[in-house]
Amino acid sequence: MSAYLIRGGRVVDPAAGTDRRADVLVRDGLVSGVGDDLDAADAEVLEAQGAVVAPGLVDLHCHMREPGREDEETIASASRAAAAGGYTAVCAMPNTDPVADSAAIVEKVWAAGRAVGLVEVVPAGAISRGRQGLRLADIGEMARSAAQVRIFTDDGHGVQSSLFARRAMEYIAGFDGIYAEHCEDESLAAGGQMHEGERSAVLGLRGIPSEAEELMAARDIALARLTGCRLHLLHVSCARTVELVRQAKAEGIRVTAEATPHHFTLTDAALEGYDPNTKVQPPLRTETDRRTVISGLADGTLDAVATDHAPHALEEKDQELTFAPPGMVGLELALGLTLTELVEPGHLELMDALDRLSTAPARLLGLGDHGGPIETGAPANLVVLDPAARWEVDPDAFHSKSRNTPLAGRPLRGRVLHTLFKGRPTVRDGRVSDRELAAR
Ligand code: DOR
Repeated sequence: MSAYLIRGGRVVDPAAGTDRRADVLVRDGLVSGVGDDLDAADAEVLEAQGAVVAPGLVDLHCHMREPGREDEETIASASRAAAAGGYTAVCAMPNTDPVADSAAIVEKVWAAGRAVGLVEVVPAGAISRGRQGLRLADIGEMARSAAQVRIFTDDGHGVQSSLFARRAMEYIAGFDGIYAEHCEDESLAAGGQMHEGERSAVLGLRGIPSEAEELMAARDIALARLTGCRLHLLHVSCARTVELVRQAKAEGIRVTAEATPHHFTLTDAALEGYDPNTKVQPPLRTETDRRTVISGLADGTLDAVATDHAPHALEEKDQELTFAPPGMVGLELALGLTLTELVEPGHLELMDALDRLSTAPARLLGLGDHGGPIETGAPANLVVLDPAARWEVDPDAFHSKSRNTPLAGRPLRGRVLHTLFKGRPTVRDGRVSDRELAAR
Protein backbone atom coordinates (compact mmCIF):
# COMPACT_ATOMS: atom_id res chain seq x y z
CA MET A 1 0.00 0.00 0.00
CA SER A 2 1.12 3.53 -0.56
CA ALA A 3 2.24 6.20 1.86
CA TYR A 4 1.14 9.83 2.00
CA LEU A 5 2.71 12.80 3.71
CA ILE A 6 0.21 15.53 4.59
CA ARG A 7 2.65 18.40 4.71
CA GLY A 8 2.62 21.72 6.50
CA GLY A 9 -0.89 21.73 7.96
CA ARG A 10 -2.39 22.85 11.25
CA VAL A 11 -3.57 19.67 12.94
CA VAL A 12 -6.79 20.37 14.85
CA ASP A 13 -7.75 17.28 16.80
CA PRO A 14 -10.86 17.61 18.99
CA ALA A 15 -10.44 14.08 20.36
CA ALA A 16 -7.02 14.94 21.78
CA GLY A 17 -7.83 18.61 22.38
CA THR A 18 -4.71 19.65 20.48
CA ASP A 19 -4.12 22.30 17.84
CA ARG A 20 -0.60 22.42 16.41
CA ARG A 21 1.42 22.69 13.26
CA ALA A 22 2.67 19.26 12.16
CA ASP A 23 3.09 16.93 9.22
CA VAL A 24 1.02 13.75 9.26
CA LEU A 25 2.43 10.59 7.71
CA VAL A 26 0.00 7.93 6.60
CA ARG A 27 1.15 4.42 5.79
CA ASP A 28 -0.81 1.22 5.16
CA GLY A 29 -4.08 2.79 6.18
CA LEU A 30 -2.83 4.11 9.50
CA VAL A 31 -1.34 7.31 10.81
CA SER A 32 2.32 6.36 11.16
CA GLY A 33 3.66 9.65 12.51
CA VAL A 34 2.70 13.19 13.49
CA GLY A 35 5.52 15.71 13.75
CA ASP A 36 8.28 17.49 11.88
CA ASP A 37 11.04 15.09 10.99
CA LEU A 38 9.16 12.15 9.64
CA ASP A 39 10.86 9.51 7.53
CA ALA A 40 8.76 10.00 4.43
CA ALA A 41 11.09 9.55 1.46
CA ASP A 42 8.74 7.07 -0.24
CA ALA A 43 5.53 9.00 0.52
CA GLU A 44 3.41 10.96 -1.93
CA VAL A 45 3.02 14.53 -0.69
CA LEU A 46 -0.43 16.00 -0.09
CA GLU A 47 0.09 19.72 0.37
CA ALA A 48 -1.57 21.25 3.42
CA GLN A 49 0.16 24.64 3.69
CA GLY A 50 -2.31 27.11 5.25
CA ALA A 51 -4.80 24.27 5.68
CA VAL A 52 -6.32 22.43 8.62
CA VAL A 53 -5.89 18.68 9.10
CA ALA A 54 -8.75 17.16 11.10
CA PRO A 55 -10.47 13.83 11.68
CA GLY A 56 -12.73 12.94 8.73
CA LEU A 57 -16.28 14.18 9.17
CA VAL A 58 -19.04 11.86 10.38
CA ASP A 59 -22.67 12.41 9.35
CA LEU A 60 -25.34 11.02 11.65
CA HIS A 61 -28.16 11.65 9.18
CA CYS A 62 -28.00 10.98 5.47
CA HIS A 63 -30.64 9.78 3.00
CA MET A 64 -28.79 7.66 0.46
CA ARG A 65 -32.09 6.62 -1.19
CA GLU A 66 -30.90 3.11 -2.07
CA PRO A 67 -32.79 0.83 -2.36
CA GLY A 68 -35.77 2.33 -4.12
CA ARG A 69 -34.98 5.83 -5.39
CA GLU A 70 -31.77 5.31 -7.30
CA ASP A 71 -32.92 8.08 -9.65
CA GLU A 72 -32.41 10.56 -6.78
CA GLU A 73 -29.26 9.12 -5.18
CA THR A 74 -27.35 5.88 -4.89
CA ILE A 75 -24.94 4.62 -2.30
CA ALA A 76 -22.19 5.29 -4.87
CA SER A 77 -23.28 8.88 -5.66
CA ALA A 78 -23.92 9.71 -2.00
CA SER A 79 -20.51 8.27 -1.11
CA ARG A 80 -18.87 10.52 -3.68
CA ALA A 81 -20.80 13.53 -2.37
CA ALA A 82 -19.82 12.60 1.18
CA ALA A 83 -16.13 12.25 0.34
CA ALA A 84 -16.25 15.59 -1.52
CA GLY A 85 -17.79 17.12 1.61
CA GLY A 86 -14.96 15.80 3.80
CA TYR A 87 -16.83 12.83 5.28
CA THR A 88 -15.33 9.45 6.08
CA ALA A 89 -18.46 7.94 7.67
CA VAL A 90 -22.18 8.49 7.10
CA CYS A 91 -25.22 7.01 8.74
CA ALA A 92 -27.76 5.88 6.12
CA MET A 93 -31.38 6.55 7.06
CA PRO A 94 -33.81 3.65 6.70
CA ASN A 95 -36.69 5.43 4.90
CA THR A 96 -35.85 3.58 1.70
CA ASP A 97 -38.12 1.44 -0.46
CA PRO A 98 -38.24 -1.23 0.81
CA VAL A 99 -37.74 0.19 4.30
CA ALA A 100 -34.54 -0.91 6.06
CA ASP A 101 -36.44 -2.81 8.75
CA SER A 102 -34.78 -6.22 8.40
CA ALA A 103 -31.31 -7.74 8.49
CA ALA A 104 -31.46 -8.41 4.75
CA ILE A 105 -31.87 -4.73 3.81
CA VAL A 106 -29.37 -3.25 6.28
CA GLU A 107 -26.80 -5.85 5.22
CA LYS A 108 -27.39 -4.91 1.60
CA VAL A 109 -26.86 -1.20 2.34
CA TRP A 110 -23.78 -1.94 4.45
CA ALA A 111 -22.27 -4.24 1.80
CA ALA A 112 -22.98 -1.75 -0.99
CA GLY A 113 -21.19 0.94 1.03
CA ARG A 114 -18.19 -1.32 1.45
CA ALA A 115 -18.15 -2.18 -2.24
CA VAL A 116 -18.05 1.52 -3.18
CA GLY A 117 -15.37 2.01 -0.55
CA LEU A 118 -15.28 5.81 -0.37
CA VAL A 119 -16.79 6.24 3.10
CA GLU A 120 -17.95 4.01 5.89
CA VAL A 121 -21.69 3.53 5.36
CA VAL A 122 -23.33 2.90 8.73
CA PRO A 123 -26.94 1.76 8.26
CA ALA A 124 -29.62 2.88 10.67
CA GLY A 125 -32.52 0.45 11.05
CA ALA A 126 -36.20 1.30 11.26
CA ILE A 127 -37.92 1.11 14.65
CA SER A 128 -41.17 -0.20 13.24
CA ARG A 129 -41.97 -2.51 10.36
CA GLY A 130 -42.45 -0.42 7.23
CA ARG A 131 -42.12 2.68 9.48
CA GLN A 132 -45.83 2.24 10.18
CA GLY A 133 -45.49 2.58 13.95
CA LEU A 134 -47.51 -0.58 14.59
CA ARG A 135 -45.15 -3.54 14.96
CA LEU A 136 -41.50 -3.57 15.93
CA ALA A 137 -39.03 -4.00 13.07
CA ASP A 138 -36.53 -6.88 13.24
CA ILE A 139 -34.41 -4.81 15.62
CA GLY A 140 -32.54 -7.70 17.23
CA GLU A 141 -31.72 -9.30 13.88
CA MET A 142 -30.46 -5.98 12.51
CA ALA A 143 -28.28 -5.54 15.61
CA ARG A 144 -26.86 -9.07 15.23
CA SER A 145 -26.40 -8.81 11.44
CA ALA A 146 -23.11 -8.15 9.67
CA ALA A 147 -24.17 -4.49 9.59
CA GLN A 148 -24.26 -4.46 13.44
CA VAL A 149 -26.94 -1.77 13.53
CA ARG A 150 -26.79 0.36 16.67
CA ILE A 151 -29.16 3.21 15.83
CA PHE A 152 -32.86 2.88 15.06
CA THR A 153 -35.30 5.45 13.76
CA ASP A 154 -38.51 5.83 11.75
CA ASP A 155 -37.05 9.11 10.44
CA GLY A 156 -39.39 10.99 8.14
CA HIS A 157 -42.05 10.15 10.74
CA GLY A 158 -42.04 10.34 14.48
CA VAL A 159 -43.32 7.32 16.42
CA GLN A 160 -46.81 8.54 17.27
CA SER A 161 -47.87 6.06 19.97
CA SER A 162 -46.24 6.67 23.35
CA LEU A 163 -46.74 3.04 24.33
CA PHE A 164 -45.06 1.85 21.14
CA ALA A 165 -42.17 4.27 21.73
CA ARG A 166 -41.82 2.92 25.28
CA ARG A 167 -41.73 -0.71 24.11
CA ALA A 168 -39.20 0.10 21.40
CA MET A 169 -36.97 1.90 23.89
CA GLU A 170 -37.20 -1.01 26.33
CA TYR A 171 -36.12 -3.39 23.58
CA ILE A 172 -33.32 -1.19 22.26
CA ALA A 173 -32.03 -0.47 25.79
CA GLY A 174 -31.51 -4.24 26.16
CA PHE A 175 -28.39 -4.04 24.00
CA ASP A 176 -27.55 -0.38 24.65
CA GLY A 177 -28.64 0.73 21.18
CA ILE A 178 -29.86 4.20 20.29
CA TYR A 179 -33.49 5.16 19.75
CA ALA A 180 -33.42 8.16 17.37
CA GLU A 181 -36.56 10.23 16.94
CA HIS A 182 -37.89 12.48 14.22
CA CYS A 183 -39.85 14.57 16.72
CA GLU A 184 -43.17 15.47 15.16
CA ASP A 185 -46.66 15.02 16.48
CA GLU A 186 -48.48 14.34 13.23
CA SER A 187 -51.90 15.38 14.52
CA LEU A 188 -50.49 18.88 15.11
CA ALA A 189 -48.31 18.98 12.00
CA ALA A 190 -50.81 17.49 9.53
CA GLY A 191 -50.89 19.29 6.20
CA GLY A 192 -48.27 21.80 7.35
CA GLN A 193 -45.92 23.26 4.77
CA MET A 194 -43.78 25.58 6.88
CA HIS A 195 -43.29 26.90 10.40
CA GLU A 196 -46.54 28.14 11.92
CA GLY A 197 -46.31 31.84 12.73
CA GLU A 198 -46.79 35.28 11.33
CA ARG A 199 -45.07 34.40 8.06
CA SER A 200 -47.17 31.33 7.37
CA ALA A 201 -50.26 33.49 7.90
CA VAL A 202 -48.99 36.15 5.49
CA LEU A 203 -47.92 33.60 2.88
CA GLY A 204 -51.15 31.65 3.19
CA LEU A 205 -49.37 28.35 3.83
CA ARG A 206 -50.53 25.94 6.50
CA GLY A 207 -48.13 25.93 9.44
CA ILE A 208 -46.42 23.33 11.59
CA PRO A 209 -46.25 24.68 15.16
CA SER A 210 -43.04 24.34 17.17
CA GLU A 211 -45.13 22.40 19.69
CA ALA A 212 -45.33 19.47 17.23
CA GLU A 213 -41.61 18.97 17.84
CA GLU A 214 -41.52 20.09 21.44
CA LEU A 215 -44.23 17.69 22.63
CA MET A 216 -42.61 14.61 21.15
CA ALA A 217 -39.17 15.61 22.39
CA ALA A 218 -40.59 16.05 25.91
CA ARG A 219 -42.40 12.70 25.70
CA ASP A 220 -39.30 10.89 24.50
CA ILE A 221 -37.14 12.43 27.19
CA ALA A 222 -39.66 11.22 29.78
CA LEU A 223 -39.61 7.74 28.22
CA ALA A 224 -35.81 7.70 28.12
CA ARG A 225 -35.89 8.49 31.84
CA LEU A 226 -38.34 5.64 32.37
CA THR A 227 -36.57 3.02 30.24
CA GLY A 228 -32.92 4.03 30.57
CA CYS A 229 -32.65 3.88 26.77
CA ARG A 230 -30.21 6.09 24.89
CA LEU A 231 -32.25 8.69 23.04
CA HIS A 232 -31.06 10.76 20.10
CA LEU A 233 -33.14 13.67 18.82
CA LEU A 234 -32.79 14.20 15.08
CA HIS A 235 -32.69 17.61 13.37
CA VAL A 236 -33.65 19.81 16.34
CA SER A 237 -35.25 22.99 14.99
CA CYS A 238 -36.90 24.80 17.93
CA ALA A 239 -35.56 26.88 20.80
CA ARG A 240 -37.73 25.01 23.31
CA THR A 241 -36.40 21.63 22.19
CA VAL A 242 -32.87 22.88 22.84
CA GLU A 243 -33.99 23.87 26.33
CA LEU A 244 -35.56 20.44 26.93
CA VAL A 245 -32.32 18.71 25.91
CA ARG A 246 -30.34 21.02 28.19
CA GLN A 247 -32.56 20.17 31.16
CA ALA A 248 -32.56 16.45 30.38
CA LYS A 249 -28.78 16.35 30.22
CA ALA A 250 -28.56 18.22 33.52
CA GLU A 251 -30.84 15.56 35.00
CA GLY A 252 -28.53 12.81 33.74
CA ILE A 253 -30.91 11.38 31.15
CA ARG A 254 -29.07 9.68 28.29
CA VAL A 255 -30.07 12.06 25.54
CA THR A 256 -28.10 13.42 22.60
CA ALA A 257 -29.21 15.71 19.79
CA GLU A 258 -28.18 17.04 16.41
CA ALA A 259 -28.87 20.16 14.34
CA THR A 260 -28.65 20.64 10.59
CA PRO A 261 -26.80 23.36 8.69
CA HIS A 262 -30.08 24.56 7.16
CA HIS A 263 -31.64 25.11 10.57
CA PHE A 264 -28.69 27.18 11.77
CA THR A 265 -28.39 29.06 8.45
CA LEU A 266 -31.93 29.83 7.28
CA THR A 267 -35.25 30.93 8.77
CA ASP A 268 -38.86 30.85 7.63
CA ALA A 269 -38.11 34.12 5.80
CA ALA A 270 -36.55 31.90 3.10
CA LEU A 271 -40.05 30.71 2.15
CA GLU A 272 -41.16 34.15 1.01
CA GLY A 273 -40.51 33.30 -2.64
CA TYR A 274 -42.42 30.00 -2.29
CA ASP A 275 -39.31 28.12 -3.46
CA PRO A 276 -40.05 24.38 -3.01
CA ASN A 277 -36.37 23.90 -2.16
CA THR A 278 -36.97 25.74 1.12
CA LYS A 279 -39.52 23.14 2.22
CA VAL A 280 -37.98 20.81 4.75
CA GLN A 281 -39.13 18.72 7.68
CA PRO A 282 -38.94 19.94 10.40
CA PRO A 283 -39.47 23.33 8.80
CA LEU A 284 -37.14 26.32 8.87
CA ARG A 285 -38.09 28.23 12.02
CA THR A 286 -37.73 31.75 13.38
CA GLU A 287 -34.62 33.83 13.98
CA THR A 288 -34.93 33.12 17.72
CA ASP A 289 -34.97 29.40 17.00
CA ARG A 290 -31.99 29.68 14.67
CA ARG A 291 -29.97 31.58 17.27
CA THR A 292 -30.90 29.14 20.02
CA VAL A 293 -29.86 26.19 17.86
CA ILE A 294 -26.50 27.92 17.36
CA SER A 295 -26.07 28.51 21.09
CA GLY A 296 -27.01 24.86 21.70
CA LEU A 297 -24.25 23.75 19.34
CA ALA A 298 -21.83 26.19 20.95
CA ASP A 299 -22.31 24.92 24.50
CA GLY A 300 -22.59 21.26 23.47
CA THR A 301 -26.28 20.88 24.38
CA LEU A 302 -26.62 19.86 20.74
CA ASP A 303 -23.91 17.28 20.23
CA ALA A 304 -23.53 17.18 16.48
CA VAL A 305 -24.05 18.88 13.14
CA ALA A 306 -25.86 16.40 10.88
CA THR A 307 -26.78 17.04 7.27
CA ASP A 308 -30.24 15.46 6.84
CA HIS A 309 -29.02 15.18 3.24
CA ALA A 310 -32.35 14.62 1.45
CA PRO A 311 -31.99 14.37 -2.32
CA HIS A 312 -35.17 14.70 -4.38
CA ALA A 313 -35.85 14.35 -8.09
CA LEU A 314 -36.08 17.59 -10.03
CA GLU A 315 -39.58 16.82 -11.32
CA GLU A 316 -40.82 16.28 -7.75
CA LYS A 317 -39.28 19.46 -6.35
CA ASP A 318 -40.18 21.51 -9.42
CA GLN A 319 -43.85 21.90 -8.58
CA GLU A 320 -45.97 24.04 -6.30
CA LEU A 321 -44.48 24.09 -2.79
CA THR A 322 -47.54 22.40 -1.30
CA PHE A 323 -47.01 19.31 -3.47
CA ALA A 324 -43.21 19.16 -3.33
CA PRO A 325 -41.57 16.63 -0.96
CA PRO A 326 -39.59 18.09 1.97
CA GLY A 327 -35.80 18.04 2.08
CA MET A 328 -32.59 19.52 0.75
CA VAL A 329 -29.16 18.14 -0.06
CA GLY A 330 -26.42 18.78 2.46
CA LEU A 331 -23.35 16.56 2.21
CA GLU A 332 -21.34 18.95 0.08
CA LEU A 333 -22.39 22.09 1.97
CA ALA A 334 -22.23 21.18 5.66
CA LEU A 335 -18.57 22.00 6.24
CA GLY A 336 -18.74 25.31 4.34
CA LEU A 337 -21.94 26.33 6.11
CA THR A 338 -20.51 25.40 9.51
CA LEU A 339 -17.37 27.43 8.92
CA THR A 340 -19.28 30.35 7.39
CA GLU A 341 -22.23 30.52 9.79
CA LEU A 342 -20.72 29.28 13.05
CA VAL A 343 -16.94 29.74 13.04
CA GLU A 344 -16.46 32.91 10.99
CA PRO A 345 -18.91 35.01 13.09
CA GLY A 346 -17.27 33.63 16.26
CA HIS A 347 -20.14 31.48 17.60
CA LEU A 348 -17.92 28.38 17.76
CA GLU A 349 -14.17 27.88 17.85
CA LEU A 350 -12.85 25.80 14.95
CA MET A 351 -11.99 23.00 17.40
CA ASP A 352 -15.58 22.87 18.68
CA ALA A 353 -17.02 23.00 15.18
CA LEU A 354 -14.86 20.04 14.16
CA ASP A 355 -15.94 18.23 17.31
CA ARG A 356 -19.61 18.64 16.33
CA LEU A 357 -18.88 17.54 12.75
CA SER A 358 -16.62 14.61 13.54
CA THR A 359 -15.52 13.61 17.02
CA ALA A 360 -18.89 13.87 18.78
CA PRO A 361 -20.92 12.01 16.12
CA ALA A 362 -18.21 9.32 15.83
CA ARG A 363 -18.37 8.74 19.59
CA LEU A 364 -22.14 8.75 19.55
CA LEU A 365 -22.21 5.98 16.93
CA GLY A 366 -19.34 4.11 18.62
CA LEU A 367 -17.14 4.42 15.53
CA GLY A 368 -13.71 3.99 17.06
CA ASP A 369 -11.96 4.31 13.67
CA HIS A 370 -13.33 7.81 13.10
CA GLY A 371 -13.35 11.18 14.85
CA GLY A 372 -9.70 11.10 15.99
CA PRO A 373 -7.41 11.23 17.84
CA ILE A 374 -4.87 11.80 15.08
CA GLU A 375 -1.98 9.81 16.52
CA THR A 376 0.43 7.10 15.51
CA GLY A 377 -1.38 3.81 14.98
CA ALA A 378 -4.83 5.34 14.51
CA PRO A 379 -6.81 4.59 11.33
CA ALA A 380 -6.16 7.36 8.81
CA ASN A 381 -9.65 8.78 8.32
CA LEU A 382 -8.85 12.43 7.80
CA VAL A 383 -9.89 15.63 6.11
CA VAL A 384 -7.65 18.48 5.00
CA LEU A 385 -9.54 21.72 4.56
CA ASP A 386 -8.70 25.25 3.56
CA PRO A 387 -10.62 27.38 6.09
CA ALA A 388 -10.05 30.60 4.15
CA ALA A 389 -11.10 29.44 0.66
CA ARG A 390 -14.08 31.33 -0.73
CA TRP A 391 -16.51 29.72 -3.15
CA GLU A 392 -20.10 29.85 -4.26
CA VAL A 393 -22.64 27.06 -4.06
CA ASP A 394 -23.06 25.62 -7.55
CA PRO A 395 -25.58 22.76 -7.63
CA ASP A 396 -24.36 21.72 -11.09
CA ALA A 397 -21.01 20.86 -9.53
CA PHE A 398 -22.50 18.50 -6.93
CA HIS A 399 -21.48 14.85 -6.90
CA SER A 400 -24.90 14.07 -5.52
CA LYS A 401 -27.40 12.98 -8.17
CA SER A 402 -29.79 15.64 -6.91
CA ARG A 403 -29.54 19.40 -6.90
CA ASN A 404 -32.30 20.47 -4.50
CA THR A 405 -30.97 23.33 -2.41
CA PRO A 406 -32.19 26.89 -1.88
CA LEU A 407 -28.58 27.96 -1.38
CA ALA A 408 -27.42 28.12 -5.01
CA GLY A 409 -25.08 31.09 -5.48
CA ARG A 410 -24.50 31.57 -1.75
CA PRO A 411 -20.94 32.58 -0.92
CA LEU A 412 -19.24 30.20 1.50
CA ARG A 413 -15.94 30.05 3.27
CA GLY A 414 -13.94 26.86 3.83
CA ARG A 415 -13.42 24.05 1.39
CA VAL A 416 -12.18 20.46 1.35
CA LEU A 417 -8.75 19.94 -0.20
CA HIS A 418 -8.17 16.27 0.58
CA THR A 419 -10.15 13.50 2.25
CA LEU A 420 -8.44 10.28 3.29
CA PHE A 421 -10.49 7.17 4.00
CA LYS A 422 -8.63 4.20 5.47
CA GLY A 423 -5.37 5.86 4.49
CA ARG A 424 -6.23 6.52 0.82
CA PRO A 425 -7.17 9.86 -0.71
CA THR A 426 -10.80 9.76 -1.80
CA VAL A 427 -10.51 13.47 -2.53
CA ARG A 428 -7.28 15.01 -3.73
CA ASP A 429 -6.87 18.73 -4.42
CA GLY A 430 -10.63 19.17 -4.17
CA ARG A 431 -11.46 16.45 -6.69
CA VAL A 432 -12.97 13.07 -5.94
CA SER A 433 -10.14 10.74 -6.72
CA ASP A 434 -11.12 8.57 -9.65
CA ARG A 435 -7.66 7.05 -9.60
CA GLU A 436 -8.44 5.55 -6.21
CA LEU A 437 -11.92 4.62 -7.34
CA ALA A 438 -10.61 2.75 -10.31
CA ALA A 439 -8.14 0.87 -8.09
CA ARG A 440 -10.92 -0.64 -5.99
O1 DOR B 1 -36.94 17.17 4.99
C1 DOR B 1 -36.87 15.98 5.22
N1 DOR B 1 -36.66 15.09 4.24
N2 DOR B 1 -36.99 15.56 6.47
C2 DOR B 1 -37.06 14.25 6.79
O2 DOR B 1 -37.15 13.92 7.93
C3 DOR B 1 -37.04 13.23 5.70
C4 DOR B 1 -36.34 13.74 4.53
C5 DOR B 1 -36.48 12.88 3.30
O3 DOR B 1 -36.34 11.65 3.40
O4 DOR B 1 -36.68 13.43 2.23
